[in-house]
Amino acid sequence: MFDELEKAPLDKIFKLLAQFRADEREDKIDLGIGVYKDENGNTPIMRAVKKAERQILDNETTKSYVGVAGNREFCDLIADLVFANIIDKSRIASVQAPGGTGSIWVLLQVIKRARKKGKIWISDPSWPNHYPMCELAGLEPNYYPYFDKDSGKVKFAEMMKVLDRLGPKDTVLLHGCCHNPTGANLTNEQWDIVADSLKKTGAFPFIDLAYLGFGDGIEQDAYGLRKLASTLDEMMLAFSASKNFGLYRERAGVAFAIGKDKNGAEIAFSQMGNIVRASYSQPPDHGAEIVRIILQDEKLRNEWQNELDEMSARIKNLRQKLVNAIKERSNLEDFNFLTEHSGMFSLLGISKEQVDKLKKDHAIYMLDDSRISIAGINENKIDKLAKAIIEVTQ
Ligand code: LMR
Repeated sequence: MFDELEKAPLDKIFKLLAQFRADEREDKIDLGIGVYKDENGNTPIMRAVKKAERQILDNETTKSYVGVAGNREFCDLIADLVFANIIDKSRIASVQAPGGTGSIWVLLQVIKRARKKGKIWISDPSWPNHYPMCELAGLEPNYYPYFDKDSGKVKFAEMMKVLDRLGPKDTVLLHGCCHNPTGANLTNEQWDIVADSLKKTGAFPFIDLAYLGFGDGIEQDAYGLRKLASTLDEMMLAFSASKNFGLYRERAGVAFAIGKDKNGAEIAFSQMGNIVRASYSQPPDHGAEIVRIILQDEKLRNEWQNELDEMSARIKNLRQKLVNAIKERSNLEDFNFLTEHSGMFSLLGISKEQVDKLKKDHAIYMLDDSRISIAGINENKIDKLAKAIIEVTQ
């Protein structure tokens, strides 16, 4: 049977990670995968996470099943974190899913049931997994204009030209904050305009929220999604705890469906549960339980919040330092936009040849489209990175 198939392509993020790991040069720099790294290049277990894990080890009395919809307290706590009190709780349906990607998957399946062969609009560019996931779910992915490589800014007028023409059968996938891969985000005023447009056209909003708190703090990062949730009748949102709780391999996420009313939410909940049972039966509990413990314990919650703030402040600082280092060495202002971006990533906007040269000559790894994970930069290597960027772009 397998001979009838061809080898499937590897995801480009994981392919790059394998290349980086195989590179024996000691001064190599990994700006590929979106995983937070500290000054020593490690991805730490957050302090509050370690403490919560100890509690689980001491207090857990069974490994019996939790249930199809997962850890309910975890889901409710994340609903409070994400939506605060802006909508009636009876409108919120949620199931815990394996990470943000698992949550996207469950929600895409619901969209597919409601909008057979429906079109889904994703930003150009978007996280490389969005397009294949939509295709695999049987939806038709299309791009809306998003990023201007020359200025490093959002092409908002062009984006709105496309969004304003959509209809009720369309779904629009938006990044809640910290846009991946570009790092360029909508302003609050632009979110207001998007909300008005969706209200007028009836197109269905779907938010991928993988980096809440990694940009400008939880409240500011949540502005856009809360605007949409409070303006529109219905929406979906995929939440990931991978980055903001540093739980990557534990796969903790929540799929949210906001209904017009309680009845809509109950239908969405039953559909999500039905899909979960028919795909992976139920989600893993460990990561969700860690988050539940942290969010319910004031001390651990503060400790987590402080560490998250430290991480996002470090990323901001690295952005500024890289821009300064480039300017000091070259008078080049071309990369100033890096400090206007927020979140883990920025798209440098350089060519594939220049990206290849950085890899080959300098052991600097980034995605082919020139996405860099800022958290992969180490302060000691900023000089090397700045020099290399200047060399390949001059
Ligand atoms: C990334 O974009 O690098 C991260 O979101 C990791 C992933 O799963 O792709």
